[in-house]
Amino acid sequence: MQSFDYCTPTRLIFGKDSIEKLPQVLKPLGKKVLLTYGGGSIKKIGLYDKVKALLTDFALVELSGIQPNPKYDPSVLDGVRLCKEHDVDVILSVGGGSVLDCSKAIAAGAKYDGDPWDLISYKVKAKAALPIVDVLTLAATGSEFDCGGVISRTETNDKIGYMDRLLFPVCSILDPTYTFTVSKKQTAAGCADAMNHIMEQYFCADSSLLADGFMEAGLKSLMVNTRKCLDNPEDYTARAEMMLACTYGCNGIYSLGSSDTGWPCHGIEHALSAYYDITHGEGLAIITPRWMRHILNERTLPRFVKYGVNVFEIDPSLPEMEIAEQAIDETYRFFASISIPMHLRDVGIDESRIGEMAHHIAVNEGLEQAWAPLTEQDITEILLASL
Ligand code: NZQ
Ligand code: ZN
Repeated sequence: MQSFDYCTPTRLIFGKDSIEKLPQVLKPLGKKVLLTYGGGSIKKIGLYDKVKALLTDFALVELSGIQPNPKYDPSVLDGVRLCKEHDVDVILSVGGGSVLDCSKAIAAGAKYDGDPWDLISYKVKAKAALPIVDVLTLAATGSEFDCGGVISRTETNDKIGYMDRLLFPVCSILDPTYTFTVSKKQTAAGCADAMNHIMEQYFCADSSLLADGFMEAGLKSLMVNTRKCLDNPEDYTARAEMMLACTYGCNGIYSLGSSDTGWPCHGIEHALSAYYDITHGEGLAIITPRWMRHILNERTLPRFVKYGVNVFEIDPSLPEMEIAEQAIDETYRFFASISIPMHLRDVGIDESRIGEMAHHIAVNEGLEQAWAPLTEQDITEILLASL
């Protein structure tokens, strides 16, 4: 068991109608609120009107149009400008992970005098950030319970996971009914993202029965409940369990006491979305089984055996390599069964920029230090196998 120093300061308010508590959550944080949202889904589901009706005692400034794979320019820059111009006290993010991630970068940039990219690119450490409250509408990233935000800069093909303890949301309001309208594509992608968050923590050198059991249960819960959500998008119980399993994803609680892994699939996928603006969860689903097959060897075999037996209930009396191979096949089959496109070509990526992306990943993601180290050549092979 590894030593750790752990604290997640975010308050979670979970369940139907939890939004009613929004005014009392915001009140101690100030009167001037930057309301951030995406391309309009919150208007379609009536959430925008609900928020406005609840916040008549607050002064609202709005930043809309935040795109999936949120962009530094214009969204982060516009948000920082609005916060400074209007002397904003608190940011209220209403939407999915992209809106929340963008809001986190804005929160730090609003309290910094220089170019916010200095913070995102870790040139400068933020000294302060505006408080953030969110109303989440899509189960996937876990951004609602972690201190990271992933920001894309189109002109340099960068997609950077920016983390700072200052960026934990003060409070996340999680009402599963707001996820009823999430499309089948985004529901499946959200499941793949959350499953991969668990896998990125599961495949490690040092773990415990406790952490492994929690993660195996998380994976099983996500598979069972995502199927139910796809069959019946308004199944409250399934949406709720999926939402919570996603919320735990990235803040370390799943793997307390386990050793670091290097999060290799995320390192690879972030380049795919940076170069081609694809859906993060789909990129992960494509990469994951190819990464697994690439790193499977005598050293990594025991983790695959445990994964195969405990998650997919593969017969433990089979030869170990056969269990591992079956586990990888099952992983692929599950993603395919929820209609995720399983080849890079299916999401518009061909071989033309694979060398360039592999180089970018090798230089920027530090995957040679991962539990299963990846060189530029390894990354190239994984990408080619994913075509
Ligand atoms: O823009 P709107 O109109 O709101 O539509 C969104 C968007 O088109 C739509 N949507 C959201 N809630 C909806 C809805 N449609 C109907 N009904 C609803 N209730 O869904 C689309 C995708 O939204 P987005 O926020 O992009 O999805 P997600 O939550 O999966 O976020 C993905 C981003 O998070 C990053 C990813 O890299 C990607 O940029 N990640 C953030 C992490 C973190 N902060 O911890 C960790 C992850 O590994 C991930 O990298
Ligand atoms: Zn992810």
